[in-house]
Amino acid sequence: MLPKAENLSDSLTPWNKTMDESRQGEVFTMADTSRISIPSAKKYYIESYGCQMNFSDSEIVASILAEHGFIHTSEFIQADLILINTCSIRENAEQRVRQRLTEFKRAKSHNPEALVGVLGCMAERLKSKFLEEEKIVDLVIGPDAYRTLPQLVEQAGSGQKGVNVLLSREETYADINPVRLNSNGITAFISIMRGCNNMCSFCVVPFTRGRERSRDPYSIIDEAKQLFESGYREITLLGQNVDSYLWSNQNGTESMNFARLLENVALVSPELRVRFSTSHPKDITDEVLHVIAAHANICDYIHLPIQSGSSRVLEMMNRTYTREWYLQKIERIREIVPGCAISTDIIAGFCNETEVDHQETLSMMDYVRYEMAFMYKYSERPGTLAARTYEDNISEEVKARRLKEIVTKQMAHQAEKNKEDIGKTYEVLIEGVSRRSDTHLFGRNSQNKVLVFPAQGHKPGEYVHVLVESTTAATLIGKVIS
Ligand code: 5AD
Ligand code: SF4
Repeated sequence: MLPKAENLSDSLTPWNKTMDESRQGEVFTMADTSRISIPSAKKYYIESYGCQMNFSDSEIVASILAEHGFIHTSEFIQADLILINTCSIRENAEQRVRQRLTEFKRAKSHNPEALVGVLGCMAERLKSKFLEEEKIVDLVIGPDAYRTLPQLVEQAGSGQKGVNVLLSREETYADINPVRLNSNGITAFISIMRGCNNMCSFCVVPFTRGRERSRDPYSIIDEAKQLFESGYREITLLGQNVDSYLWSNQNGTESMNFARLLENVALVSPELRVRFSTSHPKDITDEVLHVIAAHANICDYIHLPIQSGSSRVLEMMNRTYTREWYLQKIERIREIVPGCAISTDIIAGFCNETEVDHQETLSMMDYVRYEMAFMYKYSERPGTLAARTYEDNISEEVKARRLKEIVTKQMAHQAEKNKEDIGKTYEVLIEGVSRRSDTHLFGRNSQNKVLVFPAQGHKPGEYVHVLVESTTAATLIGKVIS
């Protein structure tokens, strides 16, 4: 499903499942732990915004807090510690966080001792300025400083506000076993690297998440094994740019690139589906594509952000590839992994974008016919290369009109593609009960499309073959065939 046009600019980043059915059948594991009553144990509440990396980080934070005796509550009003894991990618993402902070004031009036902590990219971007700008905030903690959270909470409890926004070149939280928050027990995310060394001129991430570093592959493979053993059947390997994953041991005698990591994770079990996000067109290799083709449990789905179809704009964006390079990558994907679904990210109205540039983005969409796209209006971010170099000179009206044209085209492509699926049979991993009907289940095919079908005695976690009989804008509807 496509997010509504007016919601696009604050839609979640691509590795997040924004599909209407994707959060169905959730088992709130953390709510269970909150039933354990430990007298005087501090309760924490955590809320996450932005990319899936942030949601994954919140699971690391949950684990650190659990180690220190905190218990989770799903009601912020009951919490002693309220945490908000923030996103800075576009201005409206930050506005939402500020709005939410005003709502947390209620908790403070209910429990004046309660502490409010800001985590993630906004914390890193604004640092101690946050304490001045939002009086309600007691703690500001950047993405590489979560291990110090318990000490900072203690410090803030004695009246001293706590700030730690140090970025690290090493921290990967490899040894921390994430506490799965809001998990459906079937699909999980594994963070394989942190930071980003690309300097896309529009993007704040290299400033808020620091230098790129790759996590020890053995800890990743172990995490995948543990998840499989506890019943999970799909994992998504997460990184800002997974294709540049490169780990080597201390003395440099052993190393692993993304293709080999992907393969090793796929070998955990043929029953464990493997996805990954995000790929950068300049870095995705034939080696990775051959690994996808060789393993049936690596999903035929690649998220390959284009950002713009115009080489001129791509250069201003510092994406380091051209339209032609991108098209070649699409050709390689289609050659090596036939039937592979491709999704993308597109920014409308970047600095100096002309109508001709915009038309090139539209023609690129016609050429690729993406299965899915996340589409945004350009939002200037302070301190980025673009903010320092170019004027944000495309009017709001023009940005909105161009975005609408992009969205309209994408919706048309998706509707056409959905129709083409009628009569096809897909292997589907069942994720949960459909929101619209208790008697229906939903799941995804390898290409990441959501399918809904009558339960017929099947259960989440099972693989079934579903024949597609009809479609809605977002979903394929069908029935299980034996
Ligand atoms: N304005 C609009 N969209 C942005 N993105 C990143 N920075 C900006 C920005 N300043 C989009 C890109 C990226 C996705 C995660 O968010 O399309 O791929
Ligand atoms: Fe931002 Fe570019 Fe890095 Fe993605 S690859 S996080 S868009 S700088």
